[in-house]
Order: sequence, then structure tokens, then C-alpha cells
Amino acid sequence: MLILGIESSCDETAAAVLDTTGGLLANIIHSQVALHAQYGGVVPELASRDHIKWIQRITHQALAEAGITLDEVDGIAVTRGPGLVGSLLVGLSFAKALALVKNIPIVGVDHLVGHLTSVFLGDELPHFPYLALTVSGGHTSLVLVKGPRDFTLVGCTLDDAAGEAFDKVAKLLGLEYPGGPSVARLATDGDPGAVAFPRAMPGKDNFDFSFSGVKTAVANYVREQRELPGTMLADICASFQEAVCDVLVTKTLRAAVSEGLTEVVLAGGVAANTRLREMLRRRGVEQGIRVIATPLAFCTDNAAMICMAAKEIFMEKTGDSMNLDVYSRPVFTRRA
Ligand code: KG4
Ligand code: ZN
Repeated sequence: MLILGIESSCDETAAAVLDTTGGLLANIIHSQVALHAQYGGVVPELASRDHIKWIQRITHQALAEAGITLDEVDGIAVTRGPGLVGSLLVGLSFAKALALVKNIPIVGVDHLVGHLTSVFLGDELPHFPYLALTVSGGHTSLVLVKGPRDFTLVGCTLDDAAGEAFDKVAKLLGLEYPGGPSVARLATDGDPGAVAFPRAMPGKDNFDFSFSGVKTAVANYVREQRELPGTMLADICASFQEAVCDVLVTKTLRAAVSEGLTEVVLAGGVAANTRLREMLRRRGVEQGIRVIATPLAFCTDNAAMICMAAKEIFMEKTGDSMNLDVYSRPVFTRRA
């Protein structure tokens, strides 16, 4: 089966083609980073308008790279939420138009399920059941994955997402947008033990996170300094990154042990962070837990993961109706 995937939930216009037996044939991403950089964050209206401008070109490019035409596509997968409504509507409307014209079945895919499935695009595969830590600009969640379509939320952030904290800290330090990679880059030259930023562990027996405290601590620390020499900036980045990674790794491994799981999957944009990958791996080994990190190419938003998630959906049903709509907020509900 050949699946064409379309993703436009935030600031990436992406299209991919997955051959469910032969693997990924194309994965094209147009990033809007340059467009939003001058505002220090994603401007929703500009994002929607840019998706409109690029979506056809990116889709054509994906089909061309895969060496197929639209007539050969067996199913269309499109992100339907959560995300920016205006941006999602561009992808969904475009996907519906293609589906209608060529009479191709279409399925709506949850963006978080896409991230949760992205690990299957790599060579190192997890075994069910496992615990997945998804850390991105919009999510910080721990999900128990018992099967390809069996997801249970066991913990999530109570305030900022981990990526959001990286982005906000970068902004207050005057670093280039997007913040995560900027902070990570500077952190490589800094001392992670220079400043003891707080490690918020809300509740001893739950698996929730909180990142607004560490963000405020960085803001207060910066305000207290008269001036910040370049080396100090690197130390702040390294110390902040260490605090965030420490909390993520500690809680994730604690949750895995408590759930009796021996495998942990790392996904989402922040999963591209080298320090997080190595800390989770190292401490995982110490606790007898196998850690599988999503390949770097599929951590940040892409349409390949939307195709991968749809592969399982297409096994259950032929498609969604043309009434398919978008949603802005996460739909995963916490375990009772
Ligand atoms: O998954 P993603 O592309 O979009 C969302 O679904 O939100 O994740 C984007 C987030 C941003 O907050 C970005 O700053 C962060 O991932 N990010 C990183 C790194 N690369 C991207 N954060 C920390 N270290 C990185 N290397
Ligand atoms: Zn994402």
C-alpha cells in the first residue's frame, strides 16, 4: 500500500510517501523558521498563509521523489490535530481535495500518535508494551503503548511543554529562534553544574511534569546578574538543559519501573537533544531499561510519521468521511 502523508499542524509544511512493505520513499519538509524568526515565535496567521503557499509544491516534490503519481496512491493520511487550527485546515482541505478528485481514501491522524509512531521509521524497533516519552514544543507526555493503536496517557506537563521551556529560555537569553537547538548548541561549551536550577518533581507518586518553575528561575538568575559574559551564557544554557533533562529522565525511568516496563521510547522535537538522548540511555542501562530514541531525522515535525501512524489506521478501516474536521487541543485523556 502506498500512503501519501500531509502534515501542517504548526510551522512545517511536510509531505511524505510510505510504501507499507517497501519503506519510506520520500520525506519532504518545508520549515517556516525564517518566516517566524523575526517575531521570536510562530505567528499563526503567517503560518497558515505560508502553508497555503507551499503545500502543493511540497506534495508534488514528495510524489516526484517517490517516483509515483497521485493515481498510484492508495491512501492519504493527514494531521487533524492538535495544532494551530488555521494551519491544520490548510493541510486537511488540501488532502480532501486530492482524495475527492482521485477517489482515494483519507484518514485523519493525531499529531501525537504520529510522534509516538515515528520510532518505527528507524532500524531499532521497540517491543510492546513500552513507555514513550514525547517531548516537543507542544507536548510533554508519558504514554503507555500496549499495541500499535493502544495508547494510555500516564503523565504529562502541568504547564509548559519541555520544548516550550527551551524556546522561552532562549528568548529571554536573546538567542536565535527556534530556541531548543540554540540552547543546546551553546550548552556544549558550558558547565552543567554551574547553576543549580530547580528540578520540579510535582507529586512523588504521579508522572506529571512542570517546567514553568525552571524557566522563571533562569529569568530571575539572569535579572540578578549585572552583565552576562559569553562564557556565563553557555553555563546557564548547560545548567538549564541539565535540569530539564534530569527531570525528564528521572520521571520517565521511575514511571517505567513502576509500570513494570523494560523499554522506553523517546520521541518529539526535543528528542533531538543530544544530552537528553545520552542521559536517558545511560541511566536506562543502569536500571536495566532499554532506551530507543527516534532517529534524528524524524524527531521534529514531519509527514513520514503521519504515514506510519496511518498504516495502522488503514488496517482497521478503509477511511474517514469527508466531514473530517480538525481540533486544536490534545485528545489523550489521562488514565483514571
Ligand atoms: O516536534 P516539534 O517539531 O514540534 C511540535 O510538535 O511542537 O518540536 C519542536 C520543539 C521546539 O520547541 C524546539 O525548540 C525543540 O523541539 N527542539 C529542541 C531541539 N531541537 C528541537 N529542544 C532541545 N534541543 C534540541 N536539540
Ligand atoms: Zn510535533
